[in-house]
Amino acid sequence: MEGLALVIGCGGIGEQLFKDLTSKSKNLDVVLCGRDKRASSFWELDIESQNSLDDLKNKIRNHSSKLRLVINATGRLHSPTLNPEKRLQHVQKENLIESFSINAFAPILLAKTIEEFIPKDSYFNFASLSARVGSIGDNKTGGWYSYRAAKSAQNQFLKSLSIEWGRKFPKSIITLLHPGTVNTDLSKPFQKFVPENKLFSTEKASKYLIDILMKQIPENSGKFFAWDGSEIVW
Ligand SMILES: NC(=O)c1ccc[n+]([C@@H]2O[C@H](COP(=O)([O-])OP(=O)(O)OC[C@H]3O[C@@H](n4cnc5c(N)ncnc54)[C@H](OP(=O)(O)O)[C@@H]3O)[C@@H](O)[C@H]2O)c1
Repeated sequence: MEGLALVIGCGGIGEQLFKDLTSKSKNLDVVLCGRDKRASSFWELDIESQNSLDDLKNKIRNHSSKLRLVINATGRLHSPTLNPEKRLQHVQKENLIESFSINAFAPILLAKTIEEFIPKDSYFNFASLSARVGSIGDNKTGGWYSYRAAKSAQNQFLKSLSIEWGRKFPKSIITLLHPGTVNTDLSKPFQKFVPENKLFSTEKASKYLIDILMKQIPENSGKFFAWDGSEIVW
């Protein structure tokens, strides 16, 4: 890969993807984008703010390399105001809005922001971190209403987009990724139920995700893959 690569989100997985892409892909100019972490190559971005997304447009426009890769590694499962619901009576409108804002609306609005920079005649990858719990077909335990539904909505947004971009940009590839359960702030409160060998380090997760990304071809655009390369049912 050659050109500008943006990793959006400075959390556990995003920062590791940034480090690995920077060290492994000598021809990629990799920039980490997010709210507060400083990296050697960093652009400030609040992906839930329209002003900040407009600002991102200017930064890409003023950059010398052609956009080649965008990975959205933002997301939220819990926050001071958000807790994954165990039952229906925990569901609240504000929580649904908070979860959808980052897990569903942000990825599609990010795609809208970068669209004008997608090359018509060369390969371009757009990947976004989803989660297996966003699969409706795989839902065997229920609960986590807002996070599950927001990730399902993200999947639907990006599946639709893969059809539109397939027509406009035949060399574009959209990939939805489930990283496994990864040892980051997002999973920390829920790790006690995860067997030790099923809790991945960020290094392991990043390696798996990059391996999948590097194998993608336009015919695969709009698919939802787990860390091991297996396709996940919608
Ligand atoms: N860890 C897992 O086990 C696991 C499993 C399945 C799927 N995933 C998915 O993988 C992705 C990455 O998760 P992670 O484990 O790396 O979690 P994380 O460490 O909590 O990272 C999430 C990042 O998203 C950023 N973010 C949230 N709102 C933002 C905004 N408005 N603008 C910019 N950045 C924002 C957060 O930044 P702030 O610190 O500024 O809020 C944080 O750095 C998420 O989509 C998650 O749903 C993770």
